[in-house]
Amino acid sequence: MKGLILAGGTGSRLRPITHTGAKQLVPIANKPILFYGIEAMAEAGITEVGLVVGENRSEFEDAVGDGWQFGVNVTYIDQAEPLGLAHCVLIAHEFLGDDDFVMYLGDNMLQQDLVGFVDKFEEARGAHPELGEDPRPAPAAQILLAQVDDPRQFGVAEIDEYGEVIRLVEKPADPPSDLALVGVYLFDPTIHEAVRAIQPSARGELEITDAIQWLADEGHRVVHEVLRGWWLDTGKKDPLLECNRLVLETITPSNEGKVDGASRVDGRVVIEEGAELVRSTVRGPAIIGRNTRLVDTYVGPFTSIAADCEISDAEIEHSVVLERCRIHGVHRLQDSLLGREVEVVRSELRPRASRLMLGDHSRVELE
Ligand code: DAU
Repeated sequence: MKGLILAGGTGSRLRPITHTGAKQLVPIANKPILFYGIEAMAEAGITEVGLVVGENRSEFEDAVGDGWQFGVNVTYIDQAEPLGLAHCVLIAHEFLGDDDFVMYLGDNMLQQDLVGFVDKFEEARGAHPELGEDPRPAPAAQILLAQVDDPRQFGVAEIDEYGEVIRLVEKPADPPSDLALVGVYLFDPTIHEAVRAIQPSARGELEITDAIQWLADEGHRVVHEVLRGWWLDTGKKDPLLECNRLVLETITPSNEGKVDGASRVDGRVVIEEGAELVRSTVRGPAIIGRNTRLVDTYVGPFTSIAADCEISDAEIEHSVVLERCRIHGVHRLQDSLLGREVEVVRSELRPRASRLMLGDHSRVELE
């Protein structure tokens, strides 16, 4: 079994954060979203991972390298334009060969690991002869579904009375069910025939939902599993903060930094190497990144501060702050996502006013 992670495309929905960085590399609890997917693959015993990347390939190469740090071998697959999820399978054919594979959307995060999901498919495909013969033909695809309140923004599945997937529609105005496709799919090599057989959709993309529909229409079995635990499609600010909250609740506290006698650390807190707390309080769950300095500052629950930030005379809570930000004299910042090298400072100038320099698509809520 091989792995295929999709990290091409443009991160338009998380602008302006992703004007300068891929959305798959935005950190959750100070670790890029993509890393959680690679780790899940490694844990499921997958060692050959193809990574589909767009124009920012070098950013992924810098972060992921050859995969050694995860115990996998990463092969980069260039996609010149984001022509759809099925297009990714098309261009990855040489890498995938005739192996079964798990396809994983690089901007998704799941609480559930991949071990049981992959095992179920391998069992159904006869990889465990000790379990005896299943009289049904082996499935050609297995998808992961989750019940959602508003299925219109997802691929949506219709299941028959035997639990087999009979219909899939991408972002339907009138959804046939409340079962949304989560970004994890298992395929056998028949999918290569499917992605060659379909045509681009109205939005000009080769849709993986159309390719899976083709499998079902041609009489191949498409099976499913319903997700256990939470899942987040992290392309927007609020789900990203929510995901950060859920992951922070699971971190193991540690302190590799410096905490002076006038500072306090309460609850589940990770202080990374070289970080420094001066007359500051951190109330977990929270993580303070490498070489970040907090002076006269309060960091409240569900906050991730990345590396090399300078925060003084400030209060911040339920927020994600990326690398090299500077925050000074701000009371108080919450529910916020700050990109790299952002400065938020209290103005000393008269008249008192908000003086802003914001990139395109920024959003500021003033008190
Ligand atoms: O998140 C689940 C949803 O993901 C599913 O319910 C939908 O059926 C599925 O189409 C997908 O919808 P999105 O609109 O969220 O897909 P998005 O454009 O965000 O792309 C998902 C990932 O795949 C992301 O990491 C970028 C990457 N990608 C996307 C396209 C279109 C590529 O690598 N190449 C592409 O051509």
